[in-house]
Amino acid sequence: MHAYTNKLANSIFVTSVSFFSVFLLAIFFIVLTGCSGSNSSEDLAFDPKATFRFDTFGDEALWTDVLQWNKVITTVDPVTALSVGLKVDSEALPPGILDTADLTSPKTTLALLKLDAVVGIKATVEEDGTVSKFGVTCALCHSTVDNSVAPGIGKRLDGWPARDLNPGLIISLSPYFDDKPDQRAVLQSWGPGKYDPYWNMDGINDPVLIAPAYGLKDVALETYTGEGPVSFWNSYIAVTQMGGQGNFQNEHLNLNIQVAEDLVTPKLPALLAYQDSLDPPLPPRGSFDSAAAARGKVIFEGKATCASCHSGETFTDANSTLHDAFETGSDPLYATRGATGQYRTTPLKGVWQHPPYFHNGAHATLLDLVEHYDIVLATGLLNDEKSDLVEFLKSL
Ligand code: HEC
Ligand code: HEC
Repeated sequence: MHAYTNKLANSIFVTSVSFFSVFLLAIFFIVLTGCSGSNSSEDLAFDPKATFRFDTFGDEALWTDVLQWNKVITTVDPVTALSVGLKVDSEALPPGILDTADLTSPKTTLALLKLDAVVGIKATVEEDGTVSKFGVTCALCHSTVDNSVAPGIGKRLDGWPARDLNPGLIISLSPYFDDKPDQRAVLQSWGPGKYDPYWNMDGINDPVLIAPAYGLKDVALETYTGEGPVSFWNSYIAVTQMGGQGNFQNEHLNLNIQVAEDLVTPKLPALLAYQDSLDPPLPPRGSFDSAAAARGKVIFEGKATCASCHSGETFTDANSTLHDAFETGSDPLYATRGATGQYRTTPLKGVWQHPPYFHNGAHATLLDLVEHYDIVLATGLLNDEKSDLVEFLKSL
C-alpha cells in the first residue's frame, strides 16, 4: 500500500531505539509514509470529551496498516469481542436493536462499529462489509460501561480503568505476529486489565494495571512512577503506544519522533481539560460502614502513618516527592524502567472502584494491602483496626 522504502531517505526522525517491536516499527511506517490518518474526527479535535472518546490521532497507521485489525475485526462476533473486555455504548444504539441482534455474528460487530458504539474503537465500514480503517482511542483502556443493559453493554464511564479489557491479547490476534511467536506469547501473558507501556522500548516484560484517568486534577505528576504531567504522558502513550502521529521527544527514552503533520500535540490541551473534569466515582450507597470508616480515618492519619505519604485532598504527596520501592514494599522493577526510578504515592479517591492494588496488582483486596503495609511499615495494627482502616479506604 505504501511505498515507504522510497521515502526512507527523507526520514531521520527516530533515533537509536530498539526496533524489534511492532510499535516502533509502526512509528517508522507513520513517519516514513506520512500516511495521513485524517478523518472526520478531526472536526472534533478540540472538543475535550470527543477527543478522549473518539480521536485516533491517526493511529490507523498502526492498527490498520501494520496490525491489520481492520481485517481481524470482520471475523469477530460481539460475544467474542465482549469476552476480551470490549464494551458497547448503549447510548449509541437505536432503541430495540439488541432485541433482534445476533450477538454471535461478526456482521453485528460491524453494525455496532458503524454506530460508533464499540468503546475505544473507530472503524470505517464500507458498503461491501469490509473495513477500510481501524483505529483505537484513549477510551479503549480508560473507559468502561455501567453494564446497565447487559454485562459489557451500558452507559460509558469515562476515566474508569478497563480492568477486564485484555489489550495484550487483542494486539496479539494480529496476523503481524504470525511469524513472531515470542512477541505474541509476551502479549498473551499480560492478562485482563494490564498493559506494558515500555515493552516496545526496553523489551522487558513487566505489565502494569491500567490506571484510572479520573481524580488526577491537582496531582502534579502522573503515572505510577511520576514520569511527568498529564500532557507528557498523554503524548507518550498516543505516539509510542497507540501509534498516533505526533511529535515526541524524550531524552531518557532516547526518542526524537517528528512527523509531517502532528495530530497529537494540538489536542493535548483538550485531553488535559477532559481528564481534569473527571471526578473520581463516589462509593456506592451502603458499600461501607461509616462508623468504622470514621475510626479508620483516625488510624490512617495516626497509628498506621498512611497520611505521611497519602496527604491532602488527593491523598498523595506527589506534588513534592516520590518514594523508593522499599518504602512501600513494592516490586522495584517497574520503577527502574522509568526516568524517576521511584514510585509516586497513588492518589486514593475512588480506590474502592479498581482492585487489585499497587502498580502491578500485587494485592488483590484492600485487606490484603493493609496486611502488607502492616508488615512493611510495622504498624502493629490489631485486627479490628485493620478492618476499620479498610472501611475508611472504601469510603474515599
Ligand atoms: C493500551 C491501553 C492504553 C491506552 C490506549 C491508553 N492508556 Fe493511559 N495508561 C495505560 C496504562 C497501562 C497506564 C499505567 C502506566 C503507568 O502509570 O506507568 C496508563 C496511565 C495513564 C495515565 C496516568 C494515570 C495516573 O494515575 O497518573 C493517564 C493520565 C493516561 N493513561 C491517559 C491516557 C490518555 C489521555 C490516552 C489517550 C491518548 C491513554 N491514556 C491511552 C494504558 C493505556
Ligand atoms: C512511604 C509512603 C507511603 C506510606 C507510608 C503509605 N503509602 Fe500507600 N502508597 C505509596 C506508594 C508509593 C504507592 C504506590 C505503590 C505501587 O504502586 O507499587 C502506594 C499505594 C497505595 C495504595 C494502592 C492504590 C492503587 O490504586 O493501587 C493504597 C490503597 C494505599 N497505598 C494505601 C495506604 C495505606 C492504607 C497506608 C497506611 C497503612 C499507606 N498507603 C501508607 C506510598 C505510601
